[in-house]
Amino acid sequence: MPRTSLAVASVPAAGAGDREFAFSDEDFRDLAAIAHRQTGIVLADSKRQLVYSRLCRRLRHLGLSDFAEYRRRLADDPGESEAFINAISTNLTKFFREAHHFEHFRTEVAEPLLRGAGGRRRFRVWSAGCSTGEEPYSIAIVLRHAMRVGKNPDAHHDARVLATDIDTDVLARGAGGEYPADSFSEVPRPYRQAFGLDNTGDEPVTMDASLRELITFGQLNLIERWPMRGPFDVIFCRNVMIYFDAPTKATLISRFIDILAPGGFLYIGHSESLLGSHPGLKLIGRTIYRRDA
Ligand SMILES: C[S@@+](CC[C@H](N)C(=O)[O-])C[C@H]1O[C@@H](n2cnc3c(N)ncnc32)[C@H](O)[C@@H]1O
Repeated sequence: MPRTSLAVASVPAAGAGDREFAFSDEDFRDLAAIAHRQTGIVLADSKRQLVYSRLCRRLRHLGLSDFAEYRRRLADDPGESEAFINAISTNLTKFFREAHHFEHFRTEVAEPLLRGAGGRRRFRVWSAGCSTGEEPYSIAIVLRHAMRVGKNPDAHHDARVLATDIDTDVLARGAGGEYPADSFSEVPRPYRQAFGLDNTGDEPVTMDASLRELITFGQLNLIERWPMRGPFDVIFCRNVMIYFDAPTKATLISRFIDILAPGGFLYIGHSESLLGSHPGLKLIGRTIYRRDA
């Protein structure tokens, strides 16, 4: 489930006695610096309680007695780094979040491109920061539906969705492709009907094989080297860059431009904007950018 219920109110002073584990200013600063170095995520002072509560589970699991001991463990045990990153990343997401992107994707991208060249054109979409998979499955729903209703539904479509995240726990959930029955309320009705997401009862629903086969899930840290060469026709990177500082964000956007096909689209989150000028990329709609053709 998305991590939504994180209490940030009533932050006791560092080292306060009512905490289960001692958590000093130095502990927080050190862990925030590690998070920034390894992931680009900025953990401001206001995130102190959030970091404490997420990592408490790790301390209990490892049988440690305080955060100083946890920092030593993190330094000595490379395996803990993955658990640390999984714990501090925020994974809130849902199907068809920010629906206007999917409408634009359908009308301006998927349907016209899949219609072209008898449907044989190579077509690549990247969900960068895909969390538990609701975003790439929403993309796959639009894509598969566009293939089925296209002029030549039997044409061979070379269409793929790459879904990446830094967090291995959420990737496993996405690859599993199973979601609670009440997750689909924002999925437009025709899609719910087409892909067995309507009247599903109470049991979890496994996404249709025709959707799953379009998506490849893989771990990728956006601030490190990317193994793929692209180009991508579309990149969804929504509600990821809000956690980064301005230089990290600027570098990432330049790299997105480089890996986008000419005329390709970049969708970003509702509260994000591309500060500064990025030659070659134009704002063409609400949080929708297009690389020059
Ligand atoms: C709030 S979720 C956004 C999910 C989805 N894009 C959406 O808008 O619904 C942010 C995701 O970005 C991922 N993330 C954060 N830093 C990352 C990094 N350096 N590399 C790759 N993914 C990262 C987190 O693990 C998390 O799953």
